[in-house]
Amino acid sequence: MKSEGLPDDVFDGRPVIGICNTWSELTPCNSDLRDIAEYVKRGVWEAGGLPLEFPAMSLGETQMRPTAMLFRNLLAMEVEESIRGNPIDAVVLLGGCDKTSPGQLMGAASVDLPTMIVSSGPMLNGKFRGKDIGSGTDVWKFSESVRAGEMQLKDFMGAESGMSRSVGTCMTMGSASTFACITEAMGLSLSHNATLPAVDARRRALAHQTGRTIVDLARRDVRLSKILTREAFENAIRTIAAIGGSTNTVLHLLAIAGRLGVPLTLADFDRLSREIPLLVDLQPSGRFLMEDFHYAGGMPALMKEIAPWLALDCATVSGRTHRETIAEAECFNREVIRTTAEPVRETAGIWVLKGNLCPGGAIVKPSAAADELHRHQGRAVVFESIEDFKARIDDPDLEVDENSILVLKGCGPKGYPGMPEVGNMPLPRKLLARGVKDMVRISDARMSGTAFGSVVLHVAPEAEAGGPLAVVRNGDEILFDGPARKLELLISDAELKARLAEWSKNRAPPKYGRGYYRLYYDHVLQADRGCDLDFLVGASGDVVERESH
Ligand code: FES
Repeated sequence: MKSEGLPDDVFDGRPVIGICNTWSELTPCNSDLRDIAEYVKRGVWEAGGLPLEFPAMSLGETQMRPTAMLFRNLLAMEVEESIRGNPIDAVVLLGGCDKTSPGQLMGAASVDLPTMIVSSGPMLNGKFRGKDIGSGTDVWKFSESVRAGEMQLKDFMGAESGMSRSVGTCMTMGSASTFACITEAMGLSLSHNATLPAVDARRRALAHQTGRTIVDLARRDVRLSKILTREAFENAIRTIAAIGGSTNTVLHLLAIAGRLGVPLTLADFDRLSREIPLLVDLQPSGRFLMEDFHYAGGMPALMKEIAPWLALDCATVSGRTHRETIAEAECFNREVIRTTAEPVRETAGIWVLKGNLCPGGAIVKPSAAADELHRHQGRAVVFESIEDFKARIDDPDLEVDENSILVLKGCGPKGYPGMPEVGNMPLPRKLLARGVKDMVRISDARMSGTAFGSVVLHVAPEAEAGGPLAVVRNGDEILFDGPARKLELLISDAELKARLAEWSKNRAPPKYGRGYYRLYYDHVLQADRGCDLDFLVGASGDVVERESH
């Protein structure tokens, strides 16, 4: 290591701080992290530590095929072994784009060193023709407008440029923003890490302060498991409801809790978020964007509003409790962060459905769904795969109307593989042209945190694993009853059993013979358990028994 120009006296036993960086030009959302790492290092040096930056696989949501989620667990494995195998005493995780921070945290949780997170931060608000536009959310809206013939392609491309005018993560309350918000709510990052724009000088100052803080945590040996307690997870779940957060976070929290041995189930998400109204008026559930949330007071101001539901005395990396932090918090814009007396919506959180169509559960984000479709019975229009869907959805002869329920199979963890964000299936062109804006859609897929609609997601078990979804047929009646938490295929038990037996007999063999795809397919858990690999659940600590030579 002297070859890197480090003087003799830095090997005196001072805390060695790993900086795990997912910077990549293939992940534009994380492309400020090289710069951010330098500021973390300043703080580490200043506090008497030795900072050593190392790379980790970067997962660009917009680039990786077939889907970044397939590789979240691979990133987690890489991060876990890099932290354990190298002689470091604590780690700062630099991530941002949807799967990067969750994958890093899963890996870090299985080692359990002192750990902090600095996110890349949201992009500046999108701008187009005098209006604010949101990444993801407005792409979905504009692409429907192009398909309905209401928007020109050249305007669509102009909007795309106006939406992408700085580095950083999607500036809507998508998966990246949601995870950054809950990271703050769980006490793993310093205040305002979630909302400070990626290009804001104060994010650099926060990175510097993080460098100082992690050295202190290393000296005091405050390990990740001291911060990520059951109460911290409960704070995260309640925060998701108040911010209208992404459904993807359900998978990540289940997986992270599994690494730490914290008991957490899908049912907890419904139960813990039931009373919490939607208070943050951000796209996709509302109107504003992350810059607005920050200027309105950010997470401390929001946490002050939901304080009665939070565990306020949990340990946090800053050494201060949430109670102390929110005592100083103020809200500067009541349109963006509402009071509980005047919420954006009373119904928020995550609905966890049960029924014969989803024995392991399925989820819905009610704040993103049309109220009139919260309870709906309709005839299934079934697509056997995403290719089948794309080939037929705009067919003028497709037998579908606004009361139909679109059913998509083969998009679960094993089926795709990697559970892509296709659950918010685009509506049939002929219905869009008639002004239809929402329909009930059911699949074993995920949905982008920036997307919206009456979309039932994460059906478990998935079709590829032989769940009842595999045997839904065109014309079957389905009942979706959100308030009663029900998802039922309205056929007899005997008929369902017979169809499943028939499906098992004709089941095609798995397609993957080798490599990571094979490992993943053979070991991935279903959505109700967070889609971790079965042999990665739990932790192995930081001790390595043998030296390398
Ligand atoms: Fe990376 Fe949205 S695509 S954060």
